[in-house]
Amino acid sequence: MVKISEEFIFRLKTICDITSVVSNYLELKFSGKNKKCCCPFHSEKTPSFVVFEETDSFYCFGCGIGGDVITFIEKIENLEYIEAVKFLCKMAGVPFPEEEVDDLKAKKKEKILKINKLAARFFFENLKKSEGIQGLKYLVQKRGIKKNTIIKYGLGVALNSWNSLKDHLKDCGYTYEEMEEANLIVKSKNGGFYDKFRNRIIFPIIDLKGDVVGFGGRSLDENFGPKYLNSSDTLVFKKSFGVYSLNFAKNSMLNEFLLCEGYFDVLTLYQNGFDSAIATLGTSLTKEQARLLKRNKKDIVLAYDMDMPGKMAAKRASLVFEEIGIKVKVLNFNGAKDPDEFVKKYGVLKFKLAVENAITYEKLQFKALDEKYDLNDTDQKRRYIDEFCRIISREKDSLKKEIEITKICQRLSLDKFILLNHVRHLASRQKKMATKKFNKDLIYNIRKKNIKGENLPIKVIKAQEGVLRFLYYNPDRIDLVKNVIDENFFNIKWHKDLYCFLIKSVEQKRNLDLYIFHEVLDESHFGEFSRIINSNIFKGNILSELDDYLKILKEFKEQKLSVLDMTPKELEEKRQEKAKLKR
Ligand code: CTP
Ligand code: MN
Repeated sequence: MVKISEEFIFRLKTICDITSVVSNYLELKFSGKNKKCCCPFHSEKTPSFVVFEETDSFYCFGCGIGGDVITFIEKIENLEYIEAVKFLCKMAGVPFPEEEVDDLKAKKKEKILKINKLAARFFFENLKKSEGIQGLKYLVQKRGIKKNTIIKYGLGVALNSWNSLKDHLKDCGYTYEEMEEANLIVKSKNGGFYDKFRNRIIFPIIDLKGDVVGFGGRSLDENFGPKYLNSSDTLVFKKSFGVYSLNFAKNSMLNEFLLCEGYFDVLTLYQNGFDSAIATLGTSLTKEQARLLKRNKKDIVLAYDMDMPGKMAAKRASLVFEEIGIKVKVLNFNGAKDPDEFVKKYGVLKFKLAVENAITYEKLQFKALDEKYDLNDTDQKRRYIDEFCRIISREKDSLKKEIEITKICQRLSLDKFILLNHVRHLASRQKKMATKKFNKDLIYNIRKKNIKGENLPIKVIKAQEGVLRFLYYNPDRIDLVKNVIDENFFNIKWHKDLYCFLIKSVEQKRNLDLYIFHEVLDESHFGEFSRIINSNIFKGNILSELDDYLKILKEFKEQKLSVLDMTPKELEEKRQEKAKLKR
């Protein structure tokens, strides 16, 4: 754990209160005295992400992620603890206490970034060597990439060799372990190392800070290995978070991002004046990437391949964007498989026209309906209306919904109110189903967690949690607990550790702010602790509640609990048995 003074963190957290920080990212709504919204860390339709202002913390009842404002920034910005603190400092305009940091992970990251930079430079320089001439020819002659583009994007080539990069980095003073951590070399079966990227065009992946975080590589020999190879995740790189060329595209004057599938699409579009082209890194679009793009306040046009997989990917991506409240447009063209090919074949003006003509995924669906059904046939008309209603019932903007419905009613000479009712019915059914599924998942998750933990009666788990909560809020009354029980009453390992930590911290007169619990809890237990301190607070008489908890723990220790107190595992088994009987 890093040493930044507790006092500093405390001050920082007073400036960066959790509600305003979270509000920068999410739209919080009041729910009782707390605030709520859909969780940014897992996919859901009903809000289960709660911000607790009284305790300056949050917890998601769906996925179990929780913690304080620093945890929130760590998760949403994908940062390490120290970086998250730095991030908050920047946000608050407070200088970061530099000299106090001694973080191994941060140092490792810095080293990887340095290695990556050297590697990128090496790949680039290779283009000028005789062994690399094939790469240069491929880029310039076969793919029509201009010299300026090569320089701007820092493109390069990995030589057809097992160790050219490895040897180069060794000469620069780095160890094989360090190169492996950057995922530039790979360990072979006999324990040696070899270059990961060989005989490939190299695309450095640059993040928003301008650092080279990873690489993509396209094979120069189609018969050998996968066509594209990307860096695996490292301390500085997460494929599912990265967006190629976003560092450039975010500064474009164009109003929309052109989200493509491939590196070459981006480069060709850039050369033709579309400097807002970007691409995901060989994976389908994730929610994290979508959120990253949302922050840039540009429209989004999906410029995916026109083949079946591309169309499916566009559909999926549209739904991911829809979930975070963005409507994207989908590009559609004929006669070429991807934007790269299209621009080369038909020129930039035709492509521009295609961008202007791009329509939302929803409109695309309506168009497909028009082509699918013959409206003169009553049966087909009926099915047309059904499908139309299903599509429009997902529309969140109620005015828009009404406009579309009015339009179709005029066209098909139908009564508007009948259709409106039908849509309303569908929407409420969808919502109900989502809620039901959510509740089921919630119960299941909590159970699963407990089963994984210890085989204890739920009553006992709750009592242990209750005692821990009591200690957290009543450090002045620890004697009430200490006189009755000790750490051996806690059977779950992290509960026990936490108990000892609480007692010790109180004795050392430490301020029990949530963040100091990083010292004893790992990430998931930190989240659970956030739930514990935020449930059942200040309901009724705390002291009598504490008595109940202590009594349960004592009885359990003395094996006096009744057979009716089932463990989560037993409950789950019983549930499954019941389900079997039903079938
Ligand atoms: N991709 C990948 N791994 C593969 C194939 C593709 O990661 N085995 C990713 C790459 O990011 C690539 C993108 O998917 O840029 C598009 O793939 P594809 O459509 O197959 O590429 P093409 O446009 O056909 O590539 P090229 O033009 O280089 O032949
Ligand atoms: Mn392609």
